[in-house]
Amino acid sequence: MGDIEKKSKILIFGGTGYYGTYQVKACVAAAHPTYVYARPVKPHHDPSKLDLLKEFKSLGVTIFEGELDEHEKLVEAIRQVDIVIVTLGMPPIMDQLKIIAAMKEAGNVKRFIPSEFGNECDRISPLPPYQACCDQKKIIRRAAEKSGIPYTFVVANTYGAYFVNYLLRPYDKKSNKVTIYGTGEARFSCNYEKDIAEYTVKVAVDSRTENGLIIYRLPKCIITQLDLISMWEKKTGRTMEKAYVSEKKLIGLSETLPFPDNVPMAILHSLFVKGEEMAYDLKEDDLDVVELYPEYKYTTVEELLDIFLVDPPKPVLAAF
Ligand SMILES: NC(=O)c1ccc[n+]([C@@H]2O[C@H](COP(=O)([O-])OP(=O)(O)OC[C@H]3O[C@@H](n4cnc5c(N)ncnc54)[C@H](OP(=O)(O)O)[C@@H]3O)[C@@H](O)[C@H]2O)c1
Repeated sequence: MGDIEKKSKILIFGGTGYYGTYQVKACVAAAHPTYVYARPVKPHHDPSKLDLLKEFKSLGVTIFEGELDEHEKLVEAIRQVDIVIVTLGMPPIMDQLKIIAAMKEAGNVKRFIPSEFGNECDRISPLPPYQACCDQKKIIRRAAEKSGIPYTFVVANTYGAYFVNYLLRPYDKKSNKVTIYGTGEARFSCNYEKDIAEYTVKVAVDSRTENGLIIYRLPKCIITQLDLISMWEKKTGRTMEKAYVSEKKLIGLSETLPFPDNVPMAILHSLFVKGEEMAYDLKEDDLDVVELYPEYKYTTVEELLDIFLVDPPKPVLAAF
C-alpha cells in the first residue's frame, strides 16, 4: 500500500467517550472529513451526550446513528470512509470483532486502529483483573492481524489529564491530601490526551506505521509520582500531605473488591507500583512516536500541570 491520502475520511467508534472526544477533535483539527458512529441518544441518557453530538455536528462531523450489532449499518458507514479508529471503553471492547467483520465485508479500509491507547498488552503481566482486560485487547490484536486489514496498534501509555487529576486532585483546592501508590518511584509516561489524539491522526495516515506497533514514550512526560507531586508543590506553593498505599494493600484490594472495582486497583499496581509501561526495552521493529514525528511539539508534564493550575478539568476516576 502506498501513502494514505492526506485528507482521508476518518470514522471513529466511541467518539462520545472520554478519550474519543479528544480523538474526534484531533481529526477535525487536522482537517480530515470526520465521522462518528454513535448509539442513538435515548431520553434516559445524560443530556450532555446530546450537547456533545451537537458540538460535533457544529464542527462538521457526520454522525452515523447505530448499534454495534447492526451489521448492515456498520458496513454502510465503513464503506464511506478510509480509516477506522476505535476508542470504545472497556465493556464493549470485544464488540470490535463486529467492527472487524464489517470492515472485512466493506473491503475498503486502509487503516484500522483498535481501541488500545494504554499499555503494551503483549509485554506486561499485571494482576488478574487488569490482565483480563489486556487479554481482551490481545484477542482484538490477533483478529486485526488475521483480518488482512492494514492496522496499527497504539501504545499511548498513561493518559496525562486523567491521571494528573486522579493523583493530584487539583480540582479540590481546599485539600492538600495526595495518595501515593507503592513507593512513588516507578516511572510512567504521563501523556496529554490531546497530544495522544493528534499523534494518532498522524499515525493513521502514515504508511510507515502500517501493520506496526507504535509506542508513545515522550521523554519530557516520563515522571514518577514523587516528582509529579514535588513539581505540583512548587507550582502551587502548597505542601501536600502524603498518604501511602502499600503494594500489599493494592494487591489485597484487587483480590477482594468485586468486579469492576478490582480493575482500577490492578491498573494502579501495574502503572505506579511495578512501573510496567517503562519496564520493557523497545524492540527493533517497535515504532517510536517521537522519532517518527520530531517536528510535533508535545505538551511536557510541566506544561500539563500549568493547564491544571489555571483550569482543572473535571475528574473522571473517583479517588479512593
Ligand atoms: N492510557 C490510559 O491511561 C487510559 C485510561 C483510560 C482508558 N484507556 C483506554 O482508552 C480507550 C477508551 O476508553 P475511555 O475511558 O475513553 O472510554 P469511555 O469513556 O468509557 O468511552 C465509552 C465509549 O464507548 C461507547 N460505548 C460504551 N458501551 C457501548 C455499547 N454497548 N455499544 C456502543 N457503544 C458503547 C460510549 O458510547 P455512549 O456515549 O453512547 O455511552 C462511548 O462513546 C480504552 O481502550 C481504554 O482502555 C486508557
